[in-house]
Amino acid sequence: MIDLSTGYLGFHLRSPLVASASPLCKDLGNLQRMEENGAAAIVLHSLFEEQINAEAESLDHFLSAGSESYAESISYFPDLKSYSMGPAAYLKHLETAKKTLRIPVIGSLNGSSAGGWVNYARQIQDAGADALELNIYFLPTAMDVEGREVEDRYCDLVEAVKKQVRIPVAVKLAPYFTSMANMACKLERAGADALVLFNRFYQPDFDLEALEVKPHLILSTSDELRLRLHWVALLSSQIRPDLAITGGVHVAEDAIKGIMAGAQVVMLTSALLKYGIEYLAKLERSMVEWMVAHEYESVRQMRGSMNAAAVSDPGAFERANYLKVLGSYTI
Ligand SMILES: Cc1cc2nc3c(=O)[nH]c(=O)nc-3n(C[C@H](O)[C@H](O)[C@H](O)COP(=O)(O)O)c2cc1C
Repeated sequence: MIDLSTGYLGFHLRSPLVASASPLCKDLGNLQRMEENGAAAIVLHSLFEEQINAEAESLDHFLSAGSESYAESISYFPDLKSYSMGPAAYLKHLETAKKTLRIPVIGSLNGSSAGGWVNYARQIQDAGADALELNIYFLPTAMDVEGREVEDRYCDLVEAVKKQVRIPVAVKLAPYFTSMANMACKLERAGADALVLFNRFYQPDFDLEALEVKPHLILSTSDELRLRLHWVALLSSQIRPDLAITGGVHVAEDAIKGIMAGAQVVMLTSALLKYGIEYLAKLERSMVEWMVAHEYESVRQMRGSMNAAAVSDPGAFERANYLKVLGSYTI
């Protein structure tokens, strides 16, 4: 009997397979199918700082001028309007999801600056969320913003959110820090209970015919996993927060690599969008088959077995590997 169970954010989970934030999570029926097909927990799609602020501003305007409506105000964010539900509907959806599902339901707040909007962390908690994932999606493009300010901004936001809630807080972030390992320590000190590695950076593309900059969203492939493996393997023996991998988990081997690197859970979005929610059950079966074939009995036994502290050549994660890789190319 293979034991797939794992711990994440203080929860005992039946397996390490978690459905990450995506449009699939907007539908209660989808959430139920995720649970039926073995998802150990789900992260709801995000409620965005811009939505919360737009609603607050339009309410303010409405009260003082009696005109502008929420719908008009939020239309300044047309993409958001089509992607996500408003704050009240979000909380209601969360409440219903929580009442319907037995697995942990993780709410998601998405923003980049400390401000009144972080009160929603508490509202998400009060609506019943078992935990909160704080997605800090910040693109520093101003010339006068120094690296240290960016790092402080992340930590201030985590501290502000932690002050609002008692539930565990996971922080989802991008890999683009000069010193990722130091940043992870800082987030630990700021109170992060888990780090979710990594946000994908949705780079815009150019439409050469229309001469327009276009948003460009493509789903991931397993190739994106390696960046996550690298950092989870380096961090997992050195920091206290749990580690979750998001990005590039498509097949059983991807999930197993993530666990061996030291992740408590691996999350899926692109695979579920491509192959459907039922794919979760297939992935779990493939994981079990792999473990049986390779004589592993439990996920706990595999976790961290290939992190930087465990492998015979930790240099494989450092500059030494760079030299080895370049030297290995034969013309
Ligand atoms: C269409 C789409 C919508 C997404 N919406 C959210 C979101 O609301 N909040 C969030 O934190 N991540 C969101 N993500 C990111 C995913 O949760 C995930 O981190 C990312 O897709 C990488 O994982 P994957 O390789 O399994 O797709 C979204 C991704 C996609 C493709």
